[in-house]
Amino acid sequence: MTVTAAVDFARVNGGRFVDELKALLQIPSVSTAPEHAGDVRLAAEFVAAELRRIGMENVRLIETATAGHPGGHPLVYADWLHAAGKPTVLCYGHYDVQPAEPLDEWKSPPFEPTERDGNLYARGAVDDKGQMWMHVKALESLMAADGTLPVNVRVIVEGEEEVGGEGIAAFVREHGDALKADVALVSDTEMFAPELPTLCVGLRGMIYTEIEARGARTDLHSGMYGGAAPNPFVALAQVIAKLKDEDGRILIPGFYDAVQKPAEDELKAWKALPFDEEHYRETEVGSVALTGEPGFSVLERTWARPTLDVHGMPGGFIGTGAKTVIPAKALAKVSMRLVPDMSPAETFAKYKAYVESITPEGIQLEVRLIHSGDAIVVSTDNGYIRAATEALREVFGRETVFVRGGGSIPIVGDFVRELGIPTVMMGFGLPDDNLHAPNEKFHLANFHRGIESIVRFLGRV
Ligand code: BES
Ligand code: MN
Ligand code: MN
Repeated sequence: MTVTAAVDFARVNGGRFVDELKALLQIPSVSTAPEHAGDVRLAAEFVAAELRRIGMENVRLIETATAGHPGGHPLVYADWLHAAGKPTVLCYGHYDVQPAEPLDEWKSPPFEPTERDGNLYARGAVDDKGQMWMHVKALESLMAADGTLPVNVRVIVEGEEEVGGEGIAAFVREHGDALKADVALVSDTEMFAPELPTLCVGLRGMIYTEIEARGARTDLHSGMYGGAAPNPFVALAQVIAKLKDEDGRILIPGFYDAVQKPAEDELKAWKALPFDEEHYRETEVGSVALTGEPGFSVLERTWARPTLDVHGMPGGFIGTGAKTVIPAKALAKVSMRLVPDMSPAETFAKYKAYVESITPEGIQLEVRLIHSGDAIVVSTDNGYIRAATEALREVFGRETVFVRGGGSIPIVGDFVRELGIPTVMMGFGLPDDNLHAPNEKFHLANFHRGIESIVRFLGRV
């Protein structure tokens, strides 16, 4: 009864839910940008205020800033634990967002949420404010239906997911008891295709690094010194060129040693997914060709193989026109996606040793680790996954597909390892939602179906 009434409540109030989400999306909670620290906190307070209003208890911000982690953003915590004898669900999401740049590529400004063609466009629309809001609105709908929840619920929403999630990891390590639950529910992944209900059962891990190259003591005139002075950008280009061959194979000695292959069953299931490589190349990637390791399908390459990418090379002259300078230093931001059972620490050590061994003449390199997290695969053989597929069947009228995600959500590994609980990754993004890119959007039909799916899931566990 509660569930039907809650679904009705969500339908009647759907328009208001979207309006509230728009207000949250107006707050530029960019976690990596120190100048937005105040906005990040505002977003945390916005979420906390709403959790309080809908009847959640013990709502509070948990500070994560410490001497070892300066600038840490707060966690938002809430609970409701009055369903005696029922399991406890830990609802996780993140309220921080990626930077919105390049701004001139957005059709409407990133922090002025705009509806077009059934989609809501804004930075964070789907990753993850919109999906986190589905959790809050599902809880509100259940509460409104008869003043209680069908299960015990704890909510933890972090503000540092997009920068590695160090604060929440420390909290889980030190105060795991405060998050004691039977299962975690995470809505921060995608559906494999429109209309296809999807559970994500694996994520890649990562190490994010910086290589700093130094040559001359100070910037130099490239005419006066070119030919004698080392150039840190050229040096970085040479180093980067030796990290990966033309086939996409990573050249760091021992890099692939621990890589675990997916089981035959899983690979077989991926072959049955509706995937058209040419369509993917044309519409999602938009490049003239796809790259990567021969002998592996695109799904294997993005879900189950480790990769290496360069994100940017700050430094030197990047203004309009020309400046003839040999920069004294240059930086490269390089990350690697990891798969089970690669160790982030060991992988970083191998990478650092290799980069140092190929340092060009006259250059000093410093290799730094910015953040890291383990890859995970979750078990699908439990009642929570079954409750999720049943809830999704009721909403979408179709059977759920199980996929992995190529991205990372660092804390999910800790839920499994530190809290010892299974995780249900029920996400409602679409492949063309432009996560981390200009014109990020959330398909509003999926926002509403997500709320209903979560209501039904909580009603079943
Ligand atoms: N929600 C994404 C991760 C994701 C996206 C998983 C799509 C599966 C499918 C998350 O917000 C994210 O972007 N994570 C970062 C983590 C990193 C900064 C530690 C990522 O993957 O780059
Ligand atoms: Mn996310
Ligand atoms: Mn993200």
